[in-house]
Amino acid sequence: MSDLSRFGVSVEEELLQSFDQLIAGQGYANRSEALRDLMRDALVKSRLETSPENGEALGSLTLVYDHHASELNDKMNELQHDHHDLVVSVLHVHVNHDDCMEVIVLRGAIREIRALSDGLLSLKGVKHGRLFVTLPAQEMVGRKATSNGHAHSHNHKH
Ligand code: NI
Repeated sequence: MSDLSRFGVSVEEELLQSFDQLIAGQGYANRSEALRDLMRDALVKSRLETSPENGEALGSLTLVYDHHASELNDKMNELQHDHHDLVVSVLHVHVNHDDCMEVIVLRGAIREIRALSDGLLSLKGVKHGRLFVTLPAQEMVGRKATSNGHAHSHNHKH
């Protein structure tokens, strides 16, 4: 781990008590780790919002669907094969007689991950699903965003 810095924070007693209750319920041993997680989450969110559309991201798409829906399996397979370079791994669970759950791990350009996810989520027969997007760990804190949100623009030689 890199060097640790300490800082003091002024906060209303009531807010602090509520926060302590919340993080205790979530299993945090202390405030520091809870704050670090909040900071990392804010950084990832910001980086994803300001990343170029072709920036690399990691995603996991969870889908629950009715496998009796006509042609759904074929369409899901077709879409995933069309974007096989994005699909790292697929976990399939037969939930009960009717339902299947699939967790699709994706890696690639943010724009393409979102497009494939939207395509799968909008198929008829998909009952519920959600995409989670994050960044490789080094991307979370390893580079500074400039004011216009582009962190990669100063390497060009003219
Ligand atoms: Ni199944």
